Amino acid sequence: KRDLTTYHPDYHYTSEKNWVNDPNGMVHLDGEYHLFYQYNPFGEKWGHMSWGHAVSADLKTWKELPVAIPETKNSDGSVNMVFSGSAVIDTLNTSGLFEEGFKSGMVAIYTAHIEKDGKGIGQAQSLAYSSDKGRTWKFYDKNPILDLKMTDFRDPSVFWHEGKWKMIVVKSLEYTAQIYESADLKNWELVSEFGKIGDYAKIWECPSLFKVPIENSDKFKWISMISSAHEDTDYVGMQYFVGEFDGKKFTPDAQTGVLRIDYGKDFYAAVPFNNLPEKEKNPIIMAWVNNWAYAVDLTAEGRRAMFSMPRKISLIEKNGKYKMVQKPIFSDNIQTEVLNFSMNNSANRKTIEMKSNSYRLNFTIDLTDSKGFSIDLLKNGDEKSTINYDSITKKLSFDRTKSGVVNFNEKFPSVERMTVEPENNIIKLDIFVDKSIVEIFANEGQAVLTNLVFPKNIGGSVNFNFVK
Ligand code: FRU
Repeated sequence: KRDLTTYHPDYHYTSEKNWVNDPNGMVHLDGEYHLFYQYNPFGEKWGHMSWGHAVSADLKTWKELPVAIPETKNSDGSVNMVFSGSAVIDTLNTSGLFEEGFKSGMVAIYTAHIEKDGKGIGQAQSLAYSSDKGRTWKFYDKNPILDLKMTDFRDPSVFWHEGKWKMIVVKSLEYTAQIYESADLKNWELVSEFGKIGDYAKIWECPSLFKVPIENSDKFKWISMISSAHEDTDYVGMQYFVGEFDGKKFTPDAQTGVLRIDYGKDFYAAVPFNNLPEKEKNPIIMAWVNNWAYAVDLTAEGRRAMFSMPRKISLIEKNGKYKMVQKPIFSDNIQTEVLNFSMNNSANRKTIEMKSNSYRLNFTIDLTDSKGFSIDLLKNGDEKSTINYDSITKKLSFDRTKSGVVNFNEKFPSVERMTVEPENNIIKLDIFVDKSIVEIFANEGQAVLTNLVFPKNIGGSVNFNFVK
């Protein structure tokens, strides 16, 4: 029987109750990772947007804390919602918002979204600050700090770079990202902008800009991630640009087509953590696992939605082109099946009975002499979520049309596809299933696909078969 716990994930974070969307203000401070997020403290639908808060020591298990930054009311009856943004640690007290010598001041830079009579009338960037590791917050008394008098100007991502603060923020409906610079987090100067490149079919939201190591080298490039449209523009999705950043201007490399971060439908609004510990060489991102195309219609059990596992980001270089690689950070307590298949081996098919809907499947598949393969996940009778791979087209698809509860919105039952190039005829798939979340990492994170599914049953089987 399904109830409110049916889809509460085992090893992904979600709030105990109510609506959530974008991760916000992700920052590390003194051994604690902070995840703030878009949160409605009053209900299961989007509204009263405030920053919810959770903390973790290891990025694997999270503890929910009370609402950090709440929506506020203005005297004219309008409300200030706290939209997406970032958080930084103002170690040098550049903002002067903290006591002299205090090194752990946290500053949130968010979009104040003003709504009157249920209608958005303005978006501007504002500050809140905390002297107690994000537990309690004060609003800066001279907010907003950056106001272009626009209705769609949002999602500031701020980071420290070569002695200055930098902010990337978007004019959502102009598909333009602007980069600003500041010495004190309060006064900002526009230094460059880029836009109308890559995918600009729908919207630009939640931009970010960060330095990424190139694997097997000591070099770096910069990545800018933008939440925009999915390939099929009825949905939202994410893209990235690889390029150079000289402190003021981001110059993307020439690219063919759109670079997709995740080929599923449920990976959106991802942004990186700030202030990672020294030993952490790779940026880490997290996303909202959902899609605006149907988010508001999710079944009651799944309405709250959740966050992806954190992912470590690097780049690989192939023939002068750079590609994003994503490696999940996951708990060691996940039931894991290590599975090796090859056609020319007696063990060339398998059915495994699973007791729960939370597990990890680590496949190594030798494609020699096969036309492809199929993997059913969460299979109970006709109910299943199916992965198919075609050796000729090199396309891996994920079919959720029979995955369980699908009829709450006509855009939900869908089939996703991504190209997966075998290496020496071998494909590796690391598949993470967690109640309603499926995250598929192909070839060590070179291609990733994240999708929601709402199985009606618990347990069931995993089936692997080659296509002959
Ligand atoms: C992205 C987004 C942001 C905005 C927030 C509001 O999902 O639309 O652009 O700040 O959600 O909740």
